[in-house]
Amino acid sequence: CRVRHYKFNVVTRNFTRLCSTKPIVTVNGRFPGPTLYAREGDTVLVKVVNHVQYNVTIHWHGIRQLRTGWADGPAYITQCPIQPGQSYVYNFTITGQRGTLLWHAHILWLRATLHGAIVILPKRGVPYPFPKPHKEVVVILGEWWKSDVEAVINEALGSGLAPNVSDAHTINGHPGPVPGCSSQDGFQLQVDPGKTYMLRLINAALNEELFFKIAGHQLTVVEVDAVYTKPFKTDTVLIAPGQTTNVLLTAGRSSGKYLVAASPFMDTPVVAVDNMTATATLHYSGSLATSATTLTNPPPQNATPVATNFMDSLRSLNSKQYPAKVPQTVDHSLLFSVGLGVNPCSTCPNGSRVVADINNVSFVMPTTALLQAHFFNISGVFTDDFPANPPIAYNYTGTQPANLQTINGTKVYRLRYNDTVQVVLQDTGMIAPENHPIHLHGFNFFAVGRGLGNYNPKKDPAKFNLVDPIERNTIGVPSGGWTAIRFRADNPGVWFMHCHLEVHTTWGLKMAFVVDNGKGTNQSLLPPPSDLPKC
Ligand code: C2O
Repeated sequence: CRVRHYKFNVVTRNFTRLCSTKPIVTVNGRFPGPTLYAREGDTVLVKVVNHVQYNVTIHWHGIRQLRTGWADGPAYITQCPIQPGQSYVYNFTITGQRGTLLWHAHILWLRATLHGAIVILPKRGVPYPFPKPHKEVVVILGEWWKSDVEAVINEALGSGLAPNVSDAHTINGHPGPVPGCSSQDGFQLQVDPGKTYMLRLINAALNEELFFKIAGHQLTVVEVDAVYTKPFKTDTVLIAPGQTTNVLLTAGRSSGKYLVAASPFMDTPVVAVDNMTATATLHYSGSLATSATTLTNPPPQNATPVATNFMDSLRSLNSKQYPAKVPQTVDHSLLFSVGLGVNPCSTCPNGSRVVADINNVSFVMPTTALLQAHFFNISGVFTDDFPANPPIAYNYTGTQPANLQTINGTKVYRLRYNDTVQVVLQDTGMIAPENHPIHLHGFNFFAVGRGLGNYNPKKDPAKFNLVDPIERNTIGVPSGGWTAIRFRADNPGVWFMHCHLEVHTTWGLKMAFVVDNGKGTNQSLLPPPSDLPKC
């Protein structure tokens, strides 16, 4: 195992997309940012130097951070931000993980442009559990706003309404040809006939769950969120913000060009505008075709069955070498309602503002990092009364009772080291049912069950998959339905859980678990590094 050193200079640089130029916040002047390479077992040191006017933090999304919660990155949860002109060294070791993850800013909406891939190769000499691909390619999906992204969210917070949607989606930073603006093909994926490629797909978009397709080609899913899966073939990949998916692409005995497309998954059909689909090109080397073969079956818009089918196909590999260690019993059985609501707002033009909550608690960001408050016993920063259930039971996918208020609070749920936890994430239909990709920091979890309507604690557990459910760090809660996850609290620290649609996080759809130190074990949180930023 090695120690790998990286330097991330956070700098502003001008980029031109959709015929307009704006300054964006980047790492080392690149968009998407640089790929961080490591092997399982390596220690990674990333010195982040902040040269911009914003406070910055970086999160290593999906990295377990065993005993190194100080390096996790969410602002005011595990650290105070790195202020302009300051720096911080993120220091962590990659244990028991291999595959693709992503890093991204974890403050304000900076992750719109401040993100990149994490590629974790298996230990030297350890093969993949599938044939070695000829080449590996990182494919990052994103979103682009013509205007300044911080201005977009600030305006929405002032009005109490939803922010403007993005102007385009991107594949490796490019939207592809845009009518009336550019005829550039965007990202080009060059392949040799007969060879197999591994695409490391990452959804770095702020607010959109995406479908990914390549005309005329099937994809074999082999890994999600840095966990191997049972391989399966599909022509469409569904990928939520924060999720990663490795697929094998076998180039046929073919020639010419094929369209590669990423387009949003929406349950409720919206007016389809041209810029919804980002495109790239798969190009067979040596061939001269000038325009790409388009998709016979364009990426679906109102496509719940396609999404459901994809999710149903995901299983952990669960081999001897990579067993699925699903908790068979649970110490904490939690029911979390997740959704949107409306609160009164005297300064908003409509007199109300959209909020989002878990169990009717809309999370308020503290001004001291929760991990510091926990470690140094600083009182008054959070309370540990996060509710295990919604305040009252009702038909969650129907109408919310009028007497149910959303409260504001900085509440955490406390776990003892090694407790097993089941969380049923129940979508609510208060404003509109929505698909919420929920991300848990510090752990992988197993997605043991899923259904539509209200979770039934008497009937549904009998149908749980406790053998080979998919293991991951971000899971979509179906619109108007529920998802059940299980994990073992074997990582002491403070761990954020939130919707990975940035707009929902901003509105308060977030909470944190506190996991106490393992008494009588060596599993305790290490003390903070000396350069940990101060608030
Ligand atoms: Cu990828 Cu808390 O985020």
